[in-house]
Amino acid sequence: MSWFSQLPPKVEVYEVGPRDGLQNELRMVPTRDKVRLIRALIAAGEKRIEVTSFVSPKWIPQLADAEEVLKQLGRVEGVAFSALVPNLKGLQRARDAGLQEAAVFLSASESHSKKNINKTIAEAVQTSGEVAKAAREEGLRVRGYISTVWGCPYEGEVPISRVVDICRRLADMGLYQLSLGDTIGVGTPRQTEAILEALLKYLPASLFALHLHDTRGTALANTLVGLHAGITTYDASIGGLGGCPYAPGAAGNLATEDLVFMLHGMGIETGVNLDKLVEAGEIAQEIIGRKLSGKYLQAALGEREKKQRSRAQT
Ligand code: HMG
Ligand code: MG
Repeated sequence: MSWFSQLPPKVEVYEVGPRDGLQNELRMVPTRDKVRLIRALIAAGEKRIEVTSFVSPKWIPQLADAEEVLKQLGRVEGVAFSALVPNLKGLQRARDAGLQEAAVFLSASESHSKKNINKTIAEAVQTSGEVAKAAREEGLRVRGYISTVWGCPYEGEVPISRVVDICRRLADMGLYQLSLGDTIGVGTPRQTEAILEALLKYLPASLFALHLHDTRGTALANTLVGLHAGITTYDASIGGLGGCPYAPGAAGNLATEDLVFMLHGMGIETGVNLDKLVEAGEIAQEIIGRKLSGKYLQAALGEREKKQRSRAQT
């Protein structure tokens, strides 16, 4: 039997560009441009979009307009907007802004945890539990991120047993999905297989998403391993926007168009329109004022330019 016939027929794309992407941009993007980008992502058929963070504006000034972003977006039928929520103060803000889905986040390495949220892993697990409980009581869906699963920018290797332990504890908190972060994009396929094999001994594949930064170009290779292990949700960011300000060297996430192009080419459905994603990618480039790293985006824009040039010459 072909290896490919064992892959899932359908995959869900979880867009993180407006949050993970813009949190790391030096340029402060005006709220109306963020909303324009998010609307373009919706027009491309994206149904799950992380639009901002309710974190401290002192730590992440780029997303200080979280309330205003949600206000301008309003509710959109069939689309779930989510945001990072680090503590109960963030949950209060998120709830007041009408957010329906919160994402708690912590790290699998102590140094990244301290730098990112000023907490030890144990403190972060406890805070995540408090936020998840309060959020669920108020009717919000809660997702969880585990960062530095494939490696830490400060400590290097991270033991898989620690990742398994954290995931089991988060699963007990009733989070509907755990997103495994290759925060600095150091993962390789064998390692991905080892991580997933260890986790899937205790928890179902349906609980997990992969959040792969493409710093060293291995995100799609790791995605293939994830698909083979039965993981059906992948985080991605338009044009490959992104990084983590507390993980030096973390480049953008896997680009949404690169992911969708590969999946469609393999006959895996996503419900997302690739041409419209390119339009959203152009908007992303315009609002941040530079070329993005997404390969499909650059190829599509290059082809279009070539056609326009040859039309002008005839
Ligand atoms: P802290 O300084 O330890 O917190 O920050 P604190 O409780 O001592 O509060 C300090 C001040 O912040 C106080 O204000 C609080 O009111 C305020 P002051 O009295 O000084 O005026 N404050 C807040 N204000 C607004 N909203 C809040 C909030 N909380 C406290 N929610 C804290 C702790 C967690 C807040 C801080 O470290 C923080 O906001 N960190 C966020 C860092 C971040 O967003 N990092 C990037 C996202 S993670 C990521 O990208 C990885 C991921 O993509 C997965 C992957 O790639 O692996 C998810
Ligand atoms: Mg990230």
